[in-house]
Amino acid sequence: MFVFAMTMLCGISICSMCMKQLGTDGWSRIVKIEVVEQPCNKSTVPPSEVQFVHYPQPTTYSREECKCNPVRFFAIISSQRSGSGWFETLLNSHANVSSNGEIFSRKERRSNISSIINTLDKVYNLDWNSSASKNECTAAVGFKWMLNQGLVANHVDVVYYFNQRGVSAIFLFRRNLLRQLVSQLANNHDRYLKQLNGTHKAHVHTSHEARILARYKPRLNTTSLVWQLKQADEYTRDALENLKSTRHITLYYEDLILNRTKLFDVLDFLNVPRRKLVSRHVKIHTKPLSEQIENWDEVYSALNGTQYESFLNAADYII
Ligand SMILES: *[C@@H]1O[C@H](CO)[C@@H](O)[C@H](O)[C@H]1NC(C)=O
Ligand SMILES: *[C@@H]1O[C@H](CO)[C@@H](O)[C@H](O)[C@H]1NC(C)=O
Ligand SMILES: *[C@@H]1O[C@H](CO)[C@@H](O)[C@H](O)[C@H]1NC(C)=O
Ligand SMILES: *[C@@H]1O[C@H](CO)[C@@H](O)[C@H](O)[C@H]1NC(C)=O
Ligand SMILES: *[C@@H]1O[C@H](CO)[C@@H](O)[C@H](O)[C@H]1NC(C)=O
Ligand SMILES: *[C@@H]1O[C@H](CO)[C@@H](O)[C@H](O)[C@H]1NC(C)=O
Ligand SMILES: *[C@@H]1O[C@H](CO)[C@@H](O)[C@H](O)[C@H]1NC(C)=O
Ligand SMILES: *[C@@H]1O[C@H](CO)[C@@H](O)[C@H](O)[C@H]1NC(C)=O
Repeated sequence: MFVFAMTMLCGISICSMCMKQLGTDGWSRIVKIEVVEQPCNKSTVPPSEVQFVHYPQPTTYSREECKCNPVRFFAIISSQRSGSGWFETLLNSHANVSSNGEIFSRKERRSNISSIINTLDKVYNLDWNSSASKNECTAAVGFKWMLNQGLVANHVDVVYYFNQRGVSAIFLFRRNLLRQLVSQLANNHDRYLKQLNGTHKAHVHTSHEARILARYKPRLNTTSLVWQLKQADEYTRDALENLKSTRHITLYYEDLILNRTKLFDVLDFLNVPRRKLVSRHVKIHTKPLSEQIENWDEVYSALNGTQYESFLNAADYII
């Protein structure tokens, strides 16, 4: 049973969107979303795409000569330490793409579905101001959303919103969950130690900084390791299952690293011109796992012969 405050949107943001309750089938009373957009000529847009082509009218500025440039809405859906920071900087190096970062890292923005929808509306109306905003001629706008930031918890409403408003999802996950775990532990470690001149950095721009952060070798709890990997695996699988009815593309960090051409698949998916994408991010953990885990021998025997064995030897980097 889902209960919503239906009125909030129309009050705050110029009533660009109104929501009504629908007493439709069975289990869920959900929201109807109506958006007033710029009247632009859609006759050249193929019928299958019409739902995904938008002409937002921001309230904070005018789109000027680009007001009838179509805009696509997207969300990068990922989990911590899956390369999504790197991926987002690559997308933002494109002149027509604006990805506004991890906006739901702030708790109050995800404390209930109304806050979530308010925030999404602001982003997709091109009214979200961040260092990534490109404003007038943005052709694809979005942000980065971690599964555990209110997304899994509200998946029914989010899927409904995405499908109603024509938001496309970019799933970005990591195949090697053991490497992801090492990266998480190292990141948590630095959160406390702040090894780079007293500042915690989740991402770095020089190999010098990368080396400092990679010096830490976590010790993994081998009693709970298999269970932990299984939990992480199932959490992601369930999430993808629940979100699969949205228009989406699925990417894996390892595949992107080995084959940058896959980035063009993303640009095509967003319908923006193909461009070379660049990022200043430098990968932190580049060594074999055996050199990055304190109790490697124990970890090896804990995973040897299990379904996660392949994580032990796989490299996700090119030297
Ligand atoms: C929309 O564009 C098409 C093709 O460019 C044109 O034939 C049509 O007259 C336009 N419609 C309107 C309402 O301007
Ligand atoms: C991309 O941005 C440039 C410059 O801001 C603009 O001239 C161009 O029309 C935009 N392209 C698209 C597809 O919107
Ligand atoms: C939703 O959360 C926001 C921010 O935390 C709060 O101001 C608002 O009252 C909440 N709304 C509902 C319906 O709980
Ligand atoms: C966006 O924020 C920056 C500083 O964070 C500010 O300089 C700029 O004027 C803001 N732009 C808008 C349109 O509010
Ligand atoms: C710390 O700051 C000093 C001086 O600003 C700089 O030379 C040094 O490289 C910095 N160290 C790290 C780890 O960033
Ligand atoms: C390892 O995990 C087990 C099972 O969750 C737990 O009982 C144990 O205390 C953990 N050991 C350490 C050193 O954290
Ligand atoms: C790299 O990715 C592109 C786009 O997905 C694909 O067409 C190509 O076959 C891939 N190349 C290799 C070597 O896997
Ligand atoms: C991994 O398991 C196989 C048998 O399942 C065993 O032969 C091998 O010695 C094990 N490797 C290590 C390093 O423990």
